Amino acid sequence: MNNRDFRVGLTGDFVDADGKVRYGNIRLDLLDDAPGVKWNFLDGDLDEISPATASEYDALVVLEPRVTRHTFSGSGSGSGSGSGDSRLSIVSRFGVGYDSVDLDACTDSGVIVSITPDASRRPVSTVALMLLLATGHKLLIKDRMTRDNRWDLRGQHMGVGVTGRTLGIVGLGNIGRDLAKLVVPLEMKIIAADPYVDASVADELGVELVGLDELMTRADFVVVTAALTEGTRGLIGAAELAAMKPTAFLINVARGPIVDQIALTAALSSGALAGAGLDVFEKEPPDPDDPILKLDNVTLGPHGLTWTDEAFRRVGETAIRSVLDVAAGKLPPVIVNRAVAESPELLNRLAGYGEAAN
Ligand SMILES: NC(=O)c1ccc[n+]([C@@H]2O[C@H](COP(=O)([O-])OP(=O)(O)OC[C@H]3O[C@@H](n4cnc5c(N)ncnc54)[C@H](O)[C@@H]3O)[C@@H](O)[C@H]2O)c1
Repeated sequence: MNNRDFRVGLTGDFVDADGKVRYGNIRLDLLDDAPGVKWNFLDGDLDEISPATASEYDALVVLEPRVTRHTFSGSGSGSGSGSGDSRLSIVSRFGVGYDSVDLDACTDSGVIVSITPDASRRPVSTVALMLLLATGHKLLIKDRMTRDNRWDLRGQHMGVGVTGRTLGIVGLGNIGRDLAKLVVPLEMKIIAADPYVDASVADELGVELVGLDELMTRADFVVVTAALTEGTRGLIGAAELAAMKPTAFLINVARGPIVDQIALTAALSSGALAGAGLDVFEKEPPDPDDPILKLDNVTLGPHGLTWTDEAFRRVGETAIRSVLDVAAGKLPPVIVNRAVAESPELLNRLAGYGEAAN
């Protein structure tokens, strides 16, 4: 490596103990082929990106480790300017959730936070649809019944058909909107709660915007696709669950802490709620003796139901192309902390990369 190299680090959780990429083809070939770019995996399964790492790399592609204010506290030995010794210009989150990244700290240090909404949308919306159909049709109960040769029990576990039923989407963003489009042929009534979405967006999708309270009472299937923020933490608690019909199902493909899991477990155990489909939990992984794992009326995934060859290839390509935009002195297409585009520190670095690339 020389000083002009654009250095890219990928967090160590992309590889297994043998150094093999865990997730198939994530388009690392794009990094291999980019002139002036040197890349490597960071060591180990880090909990948090350290100041030393921020001082060594121009770009980080980040899976799970957190990026905090401490990341930019500058105890590293790099040559970057500005806050501390950081030379970092972009944190490219592999996915769309960025609750693990301190946006203000990144903005203050002139660091872009980019995500991959176009690539993540379909893998998550299809999982939401899969869980909706699987819970409604009691797929897991009937799978077990079949394996146990208990065909006599078929009549005791009637499914819930979706035609004409009401789907309630909590969070009509990237994924929520895609779900609304996917279910059109199913002829469901679609309602959504999202205090920040423009009414015209809902209108165009044929979705009725309602308040959360109304959604919880009316929906036969509630699907949570909101981002986790301080405003959505615990958004669906005991009172909201109690408002649901006893025949209704709750699907959460967003983030566990949006739903009060203890209250959900109680509602599922008492029959106050028909069932749930969860790809996410308040604590991940849940404790082995967590009672939610023992219930028959839940269909569960290890925050990995969306993991497909398509998802990793497309997310990888998008995350890496954002990094390569920066290496060429350009802003990537999707920036979460938009104010960073005004940062003189960042603009200086981008100009430097642009010169090096030309
Ligand atoms: N299960 C998985 O593997 C997986 C994968 C990708 C994303 N996700 C999760 O899905 C979330 C949504 O992704 P997205 O791309 O659609 O994000 P997005 O930012 O496009 O949409 C989130 C929506 O939530 C809405 N929202 C905010 N506060 C709300 C509130 N109080 N009530 C209702 N809605 C509210 C926002 O207005 C926005 O429209 C991500 O933040 C991520 O946590 C999960």
